[in-house]
Amino acid sequence: MDQELTAWQRKRIELKWRRAFVRQELKARWSLRKVNQRGQRCVVLGSPVVDGSDMEVGDDFKVWSGHRTTLISGWGKLRFGDRVFVNVGTTIIAVEQIVVGDDVAFANDVYVMDSDSHGVEGRPHRQAPITIGDGCWIGARAMILPGVTIGKRVLVAAGAVVTRDVPDDSLVAGNPARVVRQLNYPAGCRRAWHDEWCPCPKVAAVEDTEAVVEETA
Ligand SMILES: CC(C)(COP(=O)(O)OP(=O)(O)OC[C@H]1O[C@@H](n2cnc3c(N)ncnc32)[C@H](O)[C@@H]1OP(=O)(O)O)[C@@H](O)C(=O)NCCC(=O)NCCS
Repeated sequence: MDQELTAWQRKRIELKWRRAFVRQELKARWSLRKVNQRGQRCVVLGSPVVDGSDMEVGDDFKVWSGHRTTLISGWGKLRFGDRVFVNVGTTIIAVEQIVVGDDVAFANDVYVMDSDSHGVEGRPHRQAPITIGDGCWIGARAMILPGVTIGKRVLVAAGAVVTRDVPDDSLVAGNPARVVRQLNYPAGCRRAWHDEWCPCPKVAAVEDTEAVVEETA
C-alpha cells in the first residue's frame, strides 16, 4: 500500500484540491454576502446560514455546514478575527456583541449566544457581550453563555457549559465548566489545538530538524 505516487497521480490530486478550494471560495462569496467586511481567502463548505446584520470576518475565515446547518446570526455585533474555523452544526447568535479573536476553532455543534432570550421569575432576561480570545479551541457541543469572557489559548472541553470567565491558557470542562488545569505551550504558539500541524515556531523547528535528519541520513 505504501507505493510512490506517479507525477501524474500527484498532479491529479493537486488539481482536485485546487478545484475544491476554488469551489469553496466561490461558495464563501455567496454564503458570506451579507457580511459587512470580509477578509481574504474565506472558504465555505456546504450551505450555512450566515445573516448577522453587523458582521465582520478576518482573513481565512472557514465555515463548514453539513448534516446539521451552521448558523451565524443576530442583530448584534459579530466580529471574527483571522483564521477562524466554524465547524458543522455550530450556532452563534449575537443580539448585543460577540467578539472572537484570531486562530479560534469551533468544533461541531457548539452553541454561543449572548442573550438568554427570557427572564427568570419575572426578572429581565440576561444579555451581555461574549468575548473569545485568540487561539481558543471550543470543543464539540460546548456552550458559551451570555457575559462570558474566555482568555487566550483556552481549550473548552467537549460538552462544557461555560458560565463564567476563563483565564488564559487553561483547560475547562464540565457543566458548569471549571478549570481542570493550566496549559503549557511553547513560546510563540498561537493555538490551543497545538499539534504536529501547528504553525508555531517549535513545530517548525522540529520539522526543520527532521528535514535535516532526513537529508543527512
Ligand atoms: C479536553 C480534551 C481535548 C482532552 O484533553 P486532555 O489534555 O487530554 O485532558 P485529559 O484527558 O487529561 O483530562 C483532564 C481532566 O479533564 C476531564 N475531562 C476531559 N474532557 C472532558 C470533558 N469533555 N468533559 C468533562 N471532563 C473532561 C478528564 O476526565 C480529566 O479529569 P481527571 O483529571 O479528574 O481525571 C478532550 O477530553 C475533549 O474534550 N475532546 C473533544 C475535542 C473535540 O471537540 N474535537 C472535535 C473536533 S475539533
